[in-house]
Amino acid sequence: MTQPPGGEGNGEGVGDLMGFWTNKSRIVITCAKGVPPFLRQEILSLGYSVLSEGRAEVETEGTMEDTLRLNLLIRTGQRVLFLVDSFNAKTPDDLYRKISRIRWEDHIPEDGYFSVTSSVHNPTIKDSRYPNVKCKDAVVDRIKDKRGRRPDTGSERDKVVIHLYWRSNQCQVFLDTSGEPLSRRGYRMIPLKAPMQETLSAAVVLATGWMGNGNFINPMCGSGTLAIEAALIALGRAPGLLRNNYGFMHLKGFDEASWKALRRKIRAEAKDKLNGRIMATDISQQAIEAGKKNAMTAGVERFIEFGVCDFSETPVPGGGGRVVLNPEYGERMGETEHLKETYKKIGDFFKKKCQGYKGYVFTGNLDLAKKIGLRTNRRIPFYNGPIECRLLEYDLYEGSLKRTL
Ligand SMILES: C[S@@+](CC[C@H](N)C(=O)[O-])C[C@H]1O[C@@H](n2cnc3c(N)ncnc32)[C@H](O)[C@@H]1O
Repeated sequence: MTQPPGGEGNGEGVGDLMGFWTNKSRIVITCAKGVPPFLRQEILSLGYSVLSEGRAEVETEGTMEDTLRLNLLIRTGQRVLFLVDSFNAKTPDDLYRKISRIRWEDHIPEDGYFSVTSSVHNPTIKDSRYPNVKCKDAVVDRIKDKRGRRPDTGSERDKVVIHLYWRSNQCQVFLDTSGEPLSRRGYRMIPLKAPMQETLSAAVVLATGWMGNGNFINPMCGSGTLAIEAALIALGRAPGLLRNNYGFMHLKGFDEASWKALRRKIRAEAKDKLNGRIMATDISQQAIEAGKKNAMTAGVERFIEFGVCDFSETPVPGGGGRVVLNPEYGERMGETEHLKETYKKIGDFFKKKCQGYKGYVFTGNLDLAKKIGLRTNRRIPFYNGPIECRLLEYDLYEGSLKRTL
């Protein structure tokens, strides 16, 4: 196992700051359930190894410097967690003692501010806030002891974020190098109702296999998240370039000059031209206004053709590609009875207007999905928050359009 570079839990304590930024450790990238296969693929294609894949995370390894690149480039992950120390802790007092052995004064600056998040399943813990308080106290007391002054703390996640993972007796202490979750790209100023998270939208686009090959048609686009993520993917634009604040920027030893150079290099690698067309339509004028504004903030407005119309009237150009719909599914908006008709009409739309394409419907209601009436090619499991969903794939090539009963 890669040794954590920053802690003293194993008694080896690494005091040297450069070492902290350049020594390898385990990196856990969290994501929504269902997303790990796509996140795994992203990590591998960026040249990192995959150590393990869990229900809502993928583990790799690298240096703190690597986390800058990962935060900028990863599309489907939520948080990039860099392991600082791991140890056994049976009780909250154990936890306090071992966390206060970590050299926090090497990581949190003099005028620093930090918050603590946690994921805890330990039999001695009744109130999940308690380990956070214990962890925070351990860090504050250590720094006060070393510097004679307490650092500021609170619940804001816009500066240093420490993440505590505690299962049974096994405890891992991470720096959350993302700070705010990566789904907050910074372009969605107007989310409207029932928007799909940016990172989930990216995973859905990647699940369709669309990388800019052919057209990407997105009727029922709402605030445009799928179309915007599709544009970012096709252009090879790093989603993280849209954001200016990350957790790692608030750590001691952060090298602003090399961060800026990395951003410049990654920005220069993006394309400025699409091979196919990206079209996004919605019946709601308000949704299209929001979609356009969001696309503008994301810097991709000139790559997306927006239009107000019923989904069935969406112009579908020749040349094939992907048609992706995220209709309401009765959980948060819309009534089920009315939606049955809508889903039936999606099947008709696919059959009549989308030949030569692959069709996709992202839904949390499989009963409604049956109304589409076409044979699914694949059913890819996802979660939209707590709701189990499927991305249903339909082959809409001529000759493959068989109705199911
Ligand atoms: C679940 S939302 C899509 C959310 C979107 N993926 C996002 O990230 O914002 C469903 C969208 O379908 C639109 N819609 C509902 N019925 C429609 C219809 N018949 N034709 C076109 N759009 C429709 C709604 O206005 C709504 O914006």
